[in-house]
Amino acid sequence: MDASSNPQNTVATQPYGKAGIEAAAAIILAGGCVAMPTETVYGLAADSTNPAGVAAIYAAKGRPDFNPLIVHVTAVAMAQTLVAWNAVADRLAAAFWPGPLTMVLPRLRDCRVTQAASAGLPTLALRCPAHPAMRDLIIATGKPLAAPSANRSGAISPTTAAHVAASLGGAIPLILDGGPCTAGIESTIVRVEAAVLTILRPGPVTAEMLASATSLPVQIAANSAEITAPGMLASHYAPDKALALNISVASPDHFHIGFGAIAGDMNLSASGDLAEAAAQLFAALHTADASDRTSIAIAPIPETGIGAAIVDRLRRAAHW
Ligand code: TXA
Ligand code: MG
Repeated sequence: MDASSNPQNTVATQPYGKAGIEAAAAIILAGGCVAMPTETVYGLAADSTNPAGVAAIYAAKGRPDFNPLIVHVTAVAMAQTLVAWNAVADRLAAAFWPGPLTMVLPRLRDCRVTQAASAGLPTLALRCPAHPAMRDLIIATGKPLAAPSANRSGAISPTTAAHVAASLGGAIPLILDGGPCTAGIESTIVRVEAAVLTILRPGPVTAEMLASATSLPVQIAANSAEITAPGMLASHYAPDKALALNISVASPDHFHIGFGAIAGDMNLSASGDLAEAAAQLFAALHTADASDRTSIAIAPIPETGIGAAIVDRLRRAAHW
């Protein structure tokens, strides 16, 4: 499927359920891609072993071909058919799969995932999602599914079907609507090596959680010219409007996103709960971007626990 198959800029939406999964599986097995919920953000899923499906994802998102995709599996056994699995990965899977943790491991020599899905890298990023929609679709197709976030490349990630329609309407044939995503922020990406873990993208599984599950040192990758995860690019997840961080008192031309005691025009979590704030973050940025204000300001967010992932996304969203 390509954009020309849906020239009206509209997109069919079906509720997540048996009929929706059957329709989505048929599109994917024909080499197309479908938007669907996961527990983190909505993904744009295609058969990672089919070059046509992978190409459809890159085309719909306008994604640069050097930016590799995450491949989704239902279980460790499926992962072991794709990458060189190891004991550390076993411990991480036992602690965090299914869930919002993506592991980067060496591709097996005969890995059936297309080279294009991992952008020619010798490694593959694998995640075992908890959301039943993605799990059902992997089972219905029998394929490991490549799925980036279902937004135009570089834009804010979607946490509702409406966000997907606004960003990719006209470019994809189907959205499965499973309601709002519960975690609301993309998975933690960790490079798994025998003696050290390296966080390539902070997320719901924190450095402390990784360290306590493995007893290994956990380092945070620095931004560098060498792209190990283009989600690490300084500018990413960006709204159209300028975004100012750490603002306690905003001027009237700002849409003010509050947190805790700082009310704002909309509050990520009045009780100061960081998990709730993560779940609300992208919806708040979408709302602020669509508002009549000229720019966006956001209250200070503590960088503890999942707050580190929230602040990571905000810094990239604010970088022009
Ligand atoms: O929560 C999530 O991870 C969501 C849902 C849909 O699963 N997916 C997601 O995908 O956020 P995406 O494409 O928006 O972000 C994937 C990130 C990119 O920054 C990409 O560069 C990185 O994963 N990545 C993929 N393969 C990699 C690899 N082999 N080595 C390092 N980074 C990789
Ligand atoms: Mg993304």
